[in-house]
Amino acid sequence: MDRIKLGDSELEASRIVLGCMRISEMETNALARHISTAIDCGINLFDHADIYGRGECERKFGRLLTTELNREDILIQSKCGIRQGSGKDIQYYDLSKSYIIDAVDGILERLSTEYLDLLMLHRPDALMEPEEISEAFDTLYDAGKVRHFGLSNFNATQFDFVQKYVGRKLITNQVQFGPAASHMVNSGIQANTPFDGAADRDGGLLEKSRLDNVTLQAWSPFHYGYFEGIIMDDPKFEALNEVLDDIGRSHGITKNAVAVAWILRHPATMQTIVGTTDTSRLEDIAKAGNVRLNREEWYRIYSAAGNMVP
Ligand SMILES: NC(=O)c1ccc[n+]([C@@H]2O[C@H](COP(=O)([O-])OP(=O)(O)OC[C@H]3O[C@@H](n4cnc5c(N)ncnc54)[C@H](OP(=O)(O)O)[C@@H]3O)[C@@H](O)[C@H]2O)c1
Repeated sequence: MDRIKLGDSELEASRIVLGCMRISEMETNALARHISTAIDCGINLFDHADIYGRGECERKFGRLLTTELNREDILIQSKCGIRQGSGKDIQYYDLSKSYIIDAVDGILERLSTEYLDLLMLHRPDALMEPEEISEAFDTLYDAGKVRHFGLSNFNATQFDFVQKYVGRKLITNQVQFGPAASHMVNSGIQANTPFDGAADRDGGLLEKSRLDNVTLQAWSPFHYGYFEGIIMDDPKFEALNEVLDDIGRSHGITKNAVAVAWILRHPATMQTIVGTTDTSRLEDIAKAGNVRLNREEWYRIYSAAGNMVP
């Protein structure tokens, strides 16, 4: 599988990343097999967040790191900034200096590692002070705890806002993108039309990220809406499933792999973070790395997902 440099950094990471948000329920041996299959498929980057499984995902991965894996052979990224409040069902964001620093200490302890290759701030905090973020990043970098920094779910202006104060170049932005969550390309495709899709929801994030050499990491490639469900075999996406099947047959890959190939084909050279806990599905998905869709195939998938090509 191809590797790319993340942003302006020296980190060389696989185009497909294994998301570890769902691994807390996996049995230890199955998880060990899953991770080693990922590595055999060429995946060398593993995505975490402190909130996944309320810390259990990092803890489980950390146990493998001390027994089965060689830390220097893989890259690990994690995220912080989403907090559970003391009140029932209260979730809030916290990108204060002290919270970021404490969160990273917790992450490193659970992962049983001395450093993260990459830390990302999980979501924009309406109360964030970029000077504080900058101080937190400097403290973590100077202590050798984090090698690189990025953001997640930030729009183009928010990204610039934080970057202006952070001395180090931010290298990634992790955002939702997939055949049925294509908002990042819709406004460009429908530019200069009166149609709803022309509305700019993220400040031209796609083009801005390319101009600034920030690597976009696409999360939840098989989802539609905001965690409403997955497209595979959903009757609401019958046309899309048929097209994915058809294109998959011609390339000898599964529908899942075609959906990932659709993301990888975009010239922004995005990464795709897949969250499957099914090891044979992971092996199938990894084949997307060997397939380059042509333009007609790319637009066929885009249209079949219900999008307009004016
Ligand atoms: N930054 C953020 O805000 C953010 C938000 C969400 C996620 N993420 C990251 O992105 C990663 C991926 O997210 P995700 O797991 O939600 O996305 P995903 O890879 O799109 O979806 C995975 C889910 O879809 C199921 N699935 C996939 N193909 C299927 C098929 N053909 N038939 C039936 N079920 C199928 C999987 O089940 P199986 O396990 O059975 O395959 C799994 O439950 C996460 O692990 C996390 O690292 C980041």
